[in-house]
Amino acid sequence: MFTYHIPTKVYFGKGQLENLGNVAKSYGKRILLVYGGGSIKKTGVYDSVCGYLKKSGMEIFECSGIEPNPKVESVRKGIEICKQNKIDVVLAVGGGSVMDASKFISIGSCVDFDVWDFISKKLPVEKALPLLCVLTISATGSEMDNTAVLNNSATQDKLALINDKLFPVASFCDPALTYSVGKYQTACGSADILSHLFEVYFNFNQDLYMLDTQMEGMMKTVFKYAPVALKEPENYEARANLMWTSSWAINGYIYGCNKKPWSCHAMEHQLSGVYDITHGLGLAILTPHWMEYVLSEETLPKFYDFAVNVCGIPKTEDKLKAAKQGIEYVKNFFFNQLELKNSLSAIGIDDKNFEMMAKKACGANGFINGWKKLYPEDVCNIYQASL
Ligand code: NZQ
Ligand code: ZN
Repeated sequence: MFTYHIPTKVYFGKGQLENLGNVAKSYGKRILLVYGGGSIKKTGVYDSVCGYLKKSGMEIFECSGIEPNPKVESVRKGIEICKQNKIDVVLAVGGGSVMDASKFISIGSCVDFDVWDFISKKLPVEKALPLLCVLTISATGSEMDNTAVLNNSATQDKLALINDKLFPVASFCDPALTYSVGKYQTACGSADILSHLFEVYFNFNQDLYMLDTQMEGMMKTVFKYAPVALKEPENYEARANLMWTSSWAINGYIYGCNKKPWSCHAMEHQLSGVYDITHGLGLAILTPHWMEYVLSEETLPKFYDFAVNVCGIPKTEDKLKAAKQGIEYVKNFFFNQLELKNSLSAIGIDDKNFEMMAKKACGANGFINGWKKLYPEDVCNIYQASL
């Protein structure tokens, strides 16, 4: 049994930004424009966005400098601006970091307590300022989901909040705005999209053939188009396919009734929390080792399906061999085709914090209740294998 509801209205395709002013105006007059380290100024998106807003008579306030792996301090600044200026609507222009920070700004502006308490004290989210997103990089799917992730360097925590009040009211997804995303971020974003699909597909699921085949199709889309986008950054077809897949990989559609805890994300958020690495890179490094770790008689049938249906490995009696070939296919994709670094040591991470991170990854339960139950010792083993 499940309930499915995505309240985000999506304006997808070239030129959709033209609607921004009118949509924003329908939520009020005073708008907070949130963005990152300045890519939107280089690409001209900043000028277009401001142009459309001004044309609709909006009064623009700004919160810039949201960092990748957004920090709670930046969110607090945004909340302050909202409270001081009686902001009506929040507009995120950027990637997952900017959208997630904006989600926290939009709920933090409606309460008197500190925004981190939503996470640490599990205080209820009752109200949010309406949030609009202009997506500039295909990766997290934050533009169409109810999740936001925040870093707190004081406690070395990177934690997610999941709440329906975090859905943007509208998102503008123009694939052409991602032409300027460089090779590395395109690769990391694609790894993230794939991981969102893997986390659901490789899990204990009630048989839902329809959703399995949808996920397989989305995986094939990333395998097909990410290398194209790397070679031809201005290939609209490639950018559009990646963008729409990023939204649908995480907006709830693929879960059906199969919402089970994710494994690689729990382990990766420790890495980007402690070492501030790019989320998609951490996932790319961990995922093949997690796959090898959980491959067993019980999980073999799904790995076999993946190998045959997604990776194009020929059907065979030797299912284990095919499953392993499927995992090799993933490795080859991340490390050869996408040219991502293939180990933690290659990005300057040693084993010093493995135990601490493994414990945190397992959370209050003391284990990750995923496809294979992972205890801190298992998580340490996967970190070690990724070293
Ligand atoms: O900051 P600026 O200057 O804008 O540059 C960004 C940033 O350096 C750049 N960029 C974005 N669009 C660009 C561009 N550069 C050139 N041209 C463009 N059009 O890309 C860099 C990375 O941006 P970021 O927003 O950090 O990337 P991403 O979208 O991958 O977001 C990552 C964050 O989202 C979280 C991650 O943990 C991480 O904190 N996640 C959020 C999720 C969610 N809300 O559902 C789920 C994910 O699993 C993930 O955990
Ligand atoms: Zn992710």
